[in-house]
Amino acid sequence: MLGRRRAHRPARPTPAVPAAAVAPAGCADPTGSGPADPTGAADPTGSSDAGAFAVPAAPAAPGHPALELHGVSRSYGGRRALDSVDLLLPRGRFLAVMGRSGSGKSTMLNCAAGLDRPTEGTVTIGGTNVAALGERDRTRLRRDRVGFVFQELNLLPALSVRENVALPLLLAEEHGRNRTRERDPLRCADRALALVGLEERAEARPAQLSGGQRQRVAVARALVTAPAVVLADEPTGALDPVTAHEVLDLLRRTVTAHGPAVLMVTHDPAAAAAADRTVFLAAGRITATLEHPSPAEVLRELARW
Ligand SMILES: Nc1ncnc2c1ncn2[C@@H]1O[C@H](COP(=O)(O)OP(=O)(O)O)[C@@H](O)[C@H]1O
Ligand SMILES: [Mg+2]
Repeated sequence: MLGRRRAHRPARPTPAVPAAAVAPAGCADPTGSGPADPTGAADPTGSSDAGAFAVPAAPAAPGHPALELHGVSRSYGGRRALDSVDLLLPRGRFLAVMGRSGSGKSTMLNCAAGLDRPTEGTVTIGGTNVAALGERDRTRLRRDRVGFVFQELNLLPALSVRENVALPLLLAEEHGRNRTRERDPLRCADRALALVGLEERAEARPAQLSGGQRQRVAVARALVTAPAVVLADEPTGALDPVTAHEVLDLLRRTVTAHGPAVLMVTHDPAAAAAADRTVFLAAGRITATLEHPSPAEVLRELARW
């Protein structure tokens, strides 16, 4: 399919949602049998297309995009690392971000994750304005609604694969969540491992797995809270091409009507071509957008820099 360059439309502003709307997440469900969310919040996307990789909708704020950046800028010492970025990412969409070193990709991911505060503009995750939250609610929003897959995997070597995947839920319990049978962290971890095809390796230590399997564990860990959005920073950067393809395919299949949105930073045109849309950053600004580009079209855009 031919890629299509298009002009940028500013995203619409989204009102702040009170912190109370940040409801606890359910856990990933390989059967697609519905949200484990105790609040029973509806999935605005409907219930069709529940494939093997379906993950229940994250609770709260139905109808809102998974992620929205509106006029987001971030300056360091008067220099803009990110400059008036607008981005609208509905659930079930896969967005790739490309750009040279220093173009602002990590700054964008950090702002999108609520790890960094924009100097200007607003970031909303699942309809919740991140800036409207206090530190504690922001941490909770990040933990419950955002999954992270980074190149350096941060798997804990002393824990089993199952325990590593369960970690975000175990940490949530530490902070006073109630355990239910449905949301038991280790059961949720097993479901997430089934999503990535590693249920057989739940007892293994990370060191006993291949690089690609470890990256799939990292994807399972990112999915275990049924987040609104998964942020991935070079998730295939350290993998051989075949394994990278498997991980991309996994991310691609994760993005279903029920699943999270995925925002992935990558240097690899083949990885970008797996996304629904690729945006190009230069000096903190989005300079081009391609819809469903082929690797060749991505390369052509890169050559313009
Ligand atoms: N914490 C920081 N303090 C000062 N400057 C920073 C900081 N983080 C990033 N920058 C600067 O912002 C720009 C964008 O950086 P970054 O977002 O890391 O780019 P990329 O991820 O695309 O390589 C760079 O010029 C970088 O030096
Ligand atoms: Mg970076």
